[in-house]
Amino acid sequence: MNRILYYFSCLPSRIYWKVKGTILRWRGCDFADFRDPSFGFDVGYQYRSTPVRDFRRLMKRVDREFLPFEQMAFFDAGFGKGAILIEGMKLGIPQVGGVELSESMFAVCNRNLEILGRKKENTKLYQANAATLTTQLDDFNLFYMSNPFPEHVVKQFALSIIDSTKRKPRKFFIVYFHATLHQTLIDTGFKLEYNQTRKILFKPEIITYNKIYSLPNQNTNTGIEL
Ligand SMILES: C[S@@+](CC[C@H](N)C(=O)[O-])C[C@H]1O[C@@H](n2cnc3c(N)ncnc32)[C@H](O)[C@@H]1O
Repeated sequence: MNRILYYFSCLPSRIYWKVKGTILRWRGCDFADFRDPSFGFDVGYQYRSTPVRDFRRLMKRVDREFLPFEQMAFFDAGFGKGAILIEGMKLGIPQVGGVELSESMFAVCNRNLEILGRKKENTKLYQANAATLTTQLDDFNLFYMSNPFPEHVVKQFALSIIDSTKRKPRKFFIVYFHATLHQTLIDTGFKLEYNQTRKILFKPEIITYNKIYSLPNQNTNTGIEL
């Protein structure tokens, strides 16, 4: 019964996304879930886009309470096929970028951006393991993660962000959607700024924790030239 009620409650948005997905496919875009067999779960997880409605809701809170869109340089850690990069641009964020480990998804993302006319000169996309980035992070002040990596990669990525802010002191935040490794960020030295607990209607067993972090005593200057 709950499943049936849940299905009907989501019907308008399901129809919307089905129609939208079909139109995007007709145009040659590809945002389908994908697991790249070239790397194992010990390095990173599969591609599944953050639900757009949840992303917008979370980012609007960031805009209101932490860092306005117009001052934001947004970095998607594990951007996959680029759906969230595009959503970031649609929100009016002047600079977006990110890293993706999968070579094939990196290519798909570039094609998607091109088809949708979203390829901009200041979009900095890296095809690499997030754990190996260093100075590339200096250009960003909002780091977005949607449960992309296992613990050792998240830890190294978090340490690299700290190093980056030492090199270039600035105000910045980490937005962690479905924050399964909350404790890893706390242990690395981050401070929890905001916690959003989301329950799915008629599915009480599923709870998502979305969180926003910063560093204690961080610089208040955004420090990014946009
Ligand atoms: C859960 S998806 C998130 C996609 C996107 N950020 C979003 O929110 O819609 C995780 C992505 O991270 C990528 N990934 C996994 N391990 C990685 C690593 N070590 N370095 C960079 N990207 C990685 C995966 O290939 C996948 O595309």
